[in-house]
Amino acid sequence: KRVVAFISGGGSNMLALAKACEAPDFPAEIAAVISDKPDAGGLARAEALGIPTHVFARKSYGSKAEHEAAILAALAEIRPDLLCLAGYMRLLSADFIRPHDGRILNIHPSLLPLFPGLHTHQRAIDAGVRVHGCTVHFVNEGMDEGAIIAQAVVPVDPQDDAVTLAGRVLTAEHRLYAHALRLVATGAVRLDDAGRVLTAGAQ
Ligand code: GRF
Repeated sequence: KRVVAFISGGGSNMLALAKACEAPDFPAEIAAVISDKPDAGGLARAEALGIPTHVFARKSYGSKAEHEAAILAALAEIRPDLLCLAGYMRLLSADFIRPHDGRILNIHPSLLPLFPGLHTHQRAIDAGVRVHGCTVHFVNEGMDEGAIIAQAVVPVDPQDDAVTLAGRVLTAEHRLYAHALRLVATGAVRLDDAGRVLTAGAQ
């Protein structure tokens, strides 16, 4: 399966996916990396691996619709099977998602539906939860609310602050995203017409 990864920052999740794809038996390859930020650190990391990159700086476009139209035109050329949002800090419109429904994945640093949005690690600490973690889900037009594909649990240590907790969750994200991508790329998990996750073999 051909994957396009979307980044806005350091791209450590994109890098983890690219590394996983290097395994000969892995059922996906990163065909390109797209960023909305010209200065995203992940661009250099992708280029170092020989992965083509495309930057669509939001401020170069008059509107969100024009920005998305430029990205969609590039996707029509690249023809990916799957889109993996990996630290991509922009919401996709329903018009963008519709032609790719069931083929866009996102990773979020919390155990959804708990803590959607930003600053999830500080919120977890403030809430006094004993476990935190990360979620890979199909993307719909809501924010961090699409059908869940896979999750990983990360214990919260009493000494944790947002930085130490985020670091441990990020390591779990890297493993989880490769696992989730394999599930979707092999068809072991897919989105059904009602927007629910269907696991192969489950009747
Ligand atoms: C990660 O925690 C990811 O879950 C969130 O952004 C953070 C940075 O991701 N969306 P990356 O290093 O750019 O992949």
